[in-house]
Amino acid sequence: QIIDGQGGTVAPALIELHAHLREPGQEVKEDLESGLAAAAAGGYGTVVSMPNTSPVVDDPATVRALIEKANRLGFARLRPAAALTRGQLGEQLAELATLKEAGAAMFTDDGRTNEDARVLRLGLEYAGSLGMVVSVHAEDASLRQGGVMNEGVVSEELGLPGNPGAAEAARVARDIEIAALTGARLHIQHLSTARALDLVREGKRRGVPVTCEVCPHHLTLTDEALRGFDAMYKVAPPLRTQVDADYLLQGLLDGTVDCLATDHAPHTRAEKEQDLLSAPFGIPSIEVAFPLLWTRFGEQLGLEKLLDLFTGGAARVMGWPEPGLEPGQPADLVVLDLNTERPVDPATFRSKAKFSPWAGQPLRGWPLLTLVNGQVAYQRQ
Ligand code: DOR
Ligand code: ZN
Ligand code: ZN
Repeated sequence: QIIDGQGGTVAPALIELHAHLREPGQEVKEDLESGLAAAAAGGYGTVVSMPNTSPVVDDPATVRALIEKANRLGFARLRPAAALTRGQLGEQLAELATLKEAGAAMFTDDGRTNEDARVLRLGLEYAGSLGMVVSVHAEDASLRQGGVMNEGVVSEELGLPGNPGAAEAARVARDIEIAALTGARLHIQHLSTARALDLVREGKRRGVPVTCEVCPHHLTLTDEALRGFDAMYKVAPPLRTQVDADYLLQGLLDGTVDCLATDHAPHTRAEKEQDLLSAPFGIPSIEVAFPLLWTRFGEQLGLEKLLDLFTGGAARVMGWPEPGLEPGQPADLVVLDLNTERPVDPATFRSKAKFSPWAGQPLRGWPLLTLVNGQVAYQRQ
């Protein structure tokens, strides 16, 4: 089969460590078909889906069923993350050994709930013994409680309840200590503050096995976006300040940040059109992440570094083989059009969440073609 690359740039397919695909139970927001098609359109060949579904993904049978369904669909590959505990508030550890056989990463994207420090220690020890990584949402639930945006000058001006950066830093500090205690691998998701980045930097310097990811929205948007009281910008952890966003970019440049991940968090339009206090947290971004960051930061980061943050960096976090293009092997690859500017058009999204904070923005770096296991998973019309 000869595929017309249309003059684009070939790279290994992107790897997404953090997407909410909502299956099972919340298919009104997203499902495997729409979410994995969206991922392929975003240039991703592999997606780790979050287990905060209903029911929570915490058992081997569900993990296997999700993988089999994804394989039949033929879009991006799925590596479902499974909850560390049985249920999100659980105390009983899930059957990780079998989950690993099924090819799962593991995690608890709770947001509203915190695992007890002791349960995190047990989970890290268990996961560590299996060579698995524990990813954590890393916000102190009680400090964060009630906050709809970053706590600071803007939230005070607007009279809105804030979620302080301390909720993140406190959890990151705690979890790094527990990782150091156990020697097991800890991955901090969607790191959003300068303070927490310093804690990760210091942890790494001490030799603690800790990694972290940052998201497109925390790099490109700030709490100023909440001035219009639009719940599209309501996300957890919240959009912070320009100082934080600049600091995160420095973290990408100096290697403290291991990879980019989207935290693609689809909700229905009706849910997101509610008032700020009622609307759910989350921003969909899996179809725009690469073009957005290439357009905004391509010059500072360079193509090689940016691609590594979307591919090899993510693989190293998980302990997966280095992504590459091997002669004679079926490829996971993406062909990127690095030069043509096109506006973000949410109406064309494969995701069910057809809205975007970046709607209308002219971006470069759109995928032309995504191959997964040598098969076409996405081709631009
Ligand atoms: O903004 C968020 N959305 N943060 C989370 O932690 C959860 C996620 C979701 O599931 O929608
Ligand atoms: Zn989270
Ligand atoms: Zn998430």
